[in-house]
Amino acid sequence: MGETNKQEFVTQVTVKGDFLVHFYLSIKKEMEKINKSHWENVYQTKDTTQVGWFQGTPKVSIDLISGTKISGTTSVIDVGGGDGALVDWLLEEGFEKITVLDISASALEKSKIRLGEPSSKVLWEACDILDFEPKKKFDLWHDRAVFHFLTNPKDQQIYRRLVECSIHSGGFLLVMTFSKSGPTTCSGLTVQQYDIQDLEEFFVQEFELIQSLNYDHITPSGTAQNYSVALFRRK
Ligand SMILES: C[S@@+](CC[C@H](N)C(=O)[O-])C[C@H]1O[C@@H](n2cnc3c(N)ncnc32)[C@H](O)[C@@H]1O
Repeated sequence: MGETNKQEFVTQVTVKGDFLVHFYLSIKKEMEKINKSHWENVYQTKDTTQVGWFQGTPKVSIDLISGTKISGTTSVIDVGGGDGALVDWLLEEGFEKITVLDISASALEKSKIRLGEPSSKVLWEACDILDFEPKKKFDLWHDRAVFHFLTNPKDQQIYRRLVECSIHSGGFLLVMTFSKSGPTTCSGLTVQQYDIQDLEEFFVQEFELIQSLNYDHITPSGTAQNYSVALFRRK
């Protein structure tokens, strides 16, 4: 290939590469918009005590977090916390550095209204987890039924990179997803099911699995949904 042809080839590859990156980013933006409006619609139109994932007391999370013996001065994030009651328990236990993140601002508003004045002690982040840029590291990252919505390998990798960068060494990652015996959809959206071994293999490079279990969550309409639960420690 002559020098001119070589340069032309490099230019064409660069232009195509730029186009593909631009194309991927615009598709990602559109998908995020659709996802956000799905969740805003859920929280604006449904009674959150009737949604499939509702639990009056998040017992499995509470038991596992209590077992870690982290103290109230440590920094905790509930990713995709929605209008869930984990934040109520964290406040009751005296945790002082709580962040609740959710793609739906309406979900966070509902949670703030439910909590009343104590909600002022919480940092509320209305944002897609894939766009989250934490300003500090956490000692505990809690995610019940959020990671499993990331069905695209690229998004799963972004999530893994994020947890690796956002959790202190020795800190905890508690992830709960539908298991392979669980439903294939959640809130009408397709999910990626994981068994414990899948979760361990996915996070193993930077995290050590210290506890795991499967359990049936019973929805308000009486259906059993099997969850895989994995508690990791950041290496
Ligand atoms: C199945 S609900 C679980 C809510 C809560 N974790 C619980 O266990 O009660 C999923 C939650 O994740 C939020 N969510 C979904 N996709 C998200 C994303 N990409 N980034 C942040 N939050 C997201 C939804 O708005 C919703 O509140």
